[in-house]
Amino acid sequence: MILPIVIYGSPTLRGESVEIETGEVDLEVVKLAGDMFDTMYAADGVGLAAPQVGHNIRLFVVDLSAWADDEQELANFKRIFINPEIYECSEEESHYNEGCLSLPGINEDVLRPVSIRMRYLDERFVPHDEEFTGRPARVIQHEYDHLEGKVFTDRLTPLRRSLLKRKLEGFAKGRFKASYRTR
Ligand code: NI
Repeated sequence: MILPIVIYGSPTLRGESVEIETGEVDLEVVKLAGDMFDTMYAADGVGLAAPQVGHNIRLFVVDLSAWADDEQELANFKRIFINPEIYECSEEESHYNEGCLSLPGINEDVLRPVSIRMRYLDERFVPHDEEFTGRPARVIQHEYDHLEGKVFTDRLTPLRRSLLKRKLEGFAKGRFKASYRTR
């Protein structure tokens, strides 16, 4: 089921997301993750976090198979991340041009660590401890920020942010175009 995507300016994107109870596999969480994939594909995204569909819980989904043409290892990179915790970042950082379904029409180069280590649960609630590097690390850090109430424009220099001020303020007034359902 395709869900409407929450746009910048909504308090949901600034809220703190809570951990999901991990006693047993939660079918509601699995269903929501499936809906998030549907929503993400319909909007041509590669990652989507639960706050972006109105749920302040620690869950995000990523599918990088659309990038398999120029990076073959990404062909099967379709994952659900539950209760992720990034606990190590590389000193090496790089710039990468990011966009976000919650900020349609904005693309900016963002500086982030090249590699991270993260603990998380998969869709079967099995724990993992894994290193990610390159584009997977990039998308994961972007989605992880959503769980912390951050968006990628928070990471720009004050100058870049001030140049975007009008656009950012326009979101709350409905001044944006998106090819998908929003709220
Ligand atoms: Ni985003």
